[in-house]
Amino acid sequence: MSRSGATVKTAGRVVAPLPYARWMVQTPPSRAPQSTQGAVGAAYDAVAQAYDFKFRDELDGKPLDRRLLETLLDFVGAGTVVDLGCGPGHVTGFLAAQHALVIGIDLSPGMISVAHERSPELAFAVESMLSLPTADSSCAGALALYSIIHLTPEQRLVAYGEFARTLRHGGWLLVGFHIDSAEFAMGDVNHVTTWFGQPVDLAGFFLDPAAVVADLQSAGFAVMAKLERQPLPDIEYWSRRCYVLAQRLCPSRGAQRPDG
Ligand SMILES: C[S@@+](CC[C@H](N)C(=O)[O-])C[C@H]1O[C@@H](n2cnc3c(N)ncnc32)[C@H](O)[C@@H]1O
Repeated sequence: MSRSGATVKTAGRVVAPLPYARWMVQTPPSRAPQSTQGAVGAAYDAVAQAYDFKFRDELDGKPLDRRLLETLLDFVGAGTVVDLGCGPGHVTGFLAAQHALVIGIDLSPGMISVAHERSPELAFAVESMLSLPTADSSCAGALALYSIIHLTPEQRLVAYGEFARTLRHGGWLLVGFHIDSAEFAMGDVNHVTTWFGQPVDLAGFFLDPAAVVADLQSAGFAVMAKLERQPLPDIEYWSRRCYVLAQRLCPSRGAQRPDG
């Protein structure tokens, strides 16, 4: 049961604490198929406006997340920062208010269209983090907040490889993801079929922080910090979250100083 004390049942099964249940219907993890990238993009196309409306001001109520984003920028110093799976671009906008070079990429044309509309002065592009358009070592920083959650384990490894390829040696990466929730254990897949009243086919993975750290290390990152936190009452889906801050290793010299 959620802190608000409210739960919702579908077919006799408690599926989600309110208020999240208002915009989400779930199937049990045991029956959850994995969504194709096309289905993920289509799902976010369908909910882009509603997602933007719900989340556009979310950082106002998330001081810890704001500090993490600012810390990422502090470590990055100068250079391009890419927001991977930027959605409607509200985090991209927060970063761009403090950093000269920020770009957002997302698989969903609908999300990128909303991002362009909301922040026409910023650079956004429809791209996949599985095959980034960026040149090798061209970025100083990258973040992937709640976007790796839609990748299969194999796709996550491809994405981490792309993050490593795109970041310069000594560059910085921040990833954020769900660990578990009242309904889902670490390792479960949440297959959402209705979201914001739209039919969707969207798989979301609850990830093991130790596995994410190990995979990032294998991809060429040194992990600087791993933060696990509880959800914020009333404004967030009731899941534990994890943020990992990592630095792209220099193959010959190991982790670099931010200015190195
Ligand atoms: C839960 S939303 C998070 C959006 C934003 N980062 C935020 O924190 O609100 C996940 C986003 O990741 C995007 N996404 C999923 N798979 C992707 C991929 N392979 N490449 C780029 N974006 C992807 C989705 O289209 C969606 O906009």
